[in-house]
Amino acid sequence: MEGYSEKVMDHFFNPRNVGTIEDADAIGEVGNAKCGDIMKMYMKIKDDIIVDVKFQTFGCGAAVATSSMVTELIKGKTVDEALEVTNTEVAEALDGLPPIKMHCSNLAESAVKSAIEDYRKKQNGEKK
Ligand code: FES
Repeated sequence: MEGYSEKVMDHFFNPRNVGTIEDADAIGEVGNAKCGDIMKMYMKIKDDIIVDVKFQTFGCGAAVATSSMVTELIKGKTVDEALEVTNTEVAEALDGLPPIKMHCSNLAESAVKSAIEDYRKKQNGEKK
């Protein structure tokens, strides 16, 4: 597996936070138009803070590694802070991705955004 950093390999072979959250406050689901891979992200949110996050992906190794890393980056953050995490930051945290795999990191960023959108929708629904 040439071209992958040790961190990418580590997060691929030992992905953090894989799975589902049964009573999730937010669920995001996204697909990557370039390759057809999909990702689902589950969040437990208390007082706007992401207290737990899990993901499932039907995707390539880079998608697994970036999702794993993004869950570590956003856990404990507020939803607003999590929205600011970009795929470039995720890739940097992994010591880089081969350029042709950069699109895979979009999946992780979009899954976070999609889950938070779901959270906001549910929140608004509850208030009214
Ligand atoms: Fe599909 Fe990487 S090839 S996410």
